Amino acid sequence: LKIIAYGIRDDERPYVEEWSKDQNIEVKIVKDLLTDDTVDQAKGFDGAVVYQQKPYTASVLDRLAELGVKNLSLRNVGVDNVDADAVKRNDIKVTNVPAYSPAAIAEFTVTELMRLLRHTTQYEHRQAKGDLKWTPDIATELNSLTVGVIATGRIGRAAIQIYRGFGAKIVAYDVFHNPELEKEGIYVDSLDELYKQADVISLHAPATKENMHMLNADAFNKMKDGVYILNPARGDLVDTDDLIKALDSGKVAGAALDVYENEVGIFNTDFGSFDAIPDDRLKNLMKRENVLVSPHIAFYTTTAVRNMVQFALNNNKQLIETGKADNVVAFN
Ligand code: COI
Repeated sequence: LKIIAYGIRDDERPYVEEWSKDQNIEVKIVKDLLTDDTVDQAKGFDGAVVYQQKPYTASVLDRLAELGVKNLSLRNVGVDNVDADAVKRNDIKVTNVPAYSPAAIAEFTVTELMRLLRHTTQYEHRQAKGDLKWTPDIATELNSLTVGVIATGRIGRAAIQIYRGFGAKIVAYDVFHNPELEKEGIYVDSLDELYKQADVISLHAPATKENMHMLNADAFNKMKDGVYILNPARGDLVDTDDLIKALDSGKVAGAALDVYENEVGIFNTDFGSFDAIPDDRLKNLMKRENVLVSPHIAFYTTTAVRNMVQFALNNNKQLIETGKADNVVAFN
């Protein structure tokens, strides 16, 4: 049994090596992503373990299948960059890691909300210039707010636990109701109802064809004045142009964005200077003191990285040995 692992970063390498040694299974480490240029390196392997935000295109998946490599294990949770038709026609089995550390994302989301509520960016900017005065903006306490949690999967539920620790009121929306949360009566029947009640919107939904730009002008209009928007999920969920307008008008009081709709090729890249960042809309957001942009790092903890690598390798081994695995993704 032989596995090839693509796109392995330096911080992932020790966990790959540890797994390979413990399991006594050969894992070839490739730094490059799985693309048309690198796919042929998978020849002779039983499975491939991958992580990338770039698309897994039809041509790459077709070629992988031609090479007989039909066990593909993603090291992350989102599967929106996988060409579903190519997976289905080639009978490729794809696994993901649905729970590498929901707490990693939840903790970061709440951290960012606290920074927005306590205006820490304003203080940091002023203090760097020697100004230690109180800013005119008095802070708001989280315990006085209602947080609207959109999607109550593992990450949404981990966030709810933390919000509750702060004493916030929670309302939630999801098409699937978690039985425990259902008993507690926190679900509202529609997004409109959530928008009406929430002071903070905490987004934890996967990106699908249906929910592209779900937070657009129409949705912002239905929200409370001065709402806070938290998006640690997927950039496509928020219409960036409409968010900028809602920030300009003051409808949205602040936003924390760990994802951005055009982030691929921009996040996790050093452009050398602020001006060199090749995206004006992103720079518009980054310049604002009431917007926190982070380059898709909510997941980036030692616990999460280790789990992503080792759970994905376990999934791949399981697929190769049994044709089944716990985390096979059902593409419709
Ligand atoms: C995911 O797991 O889908 C993420 O968004 C985290 C990724 C950047 C590793």
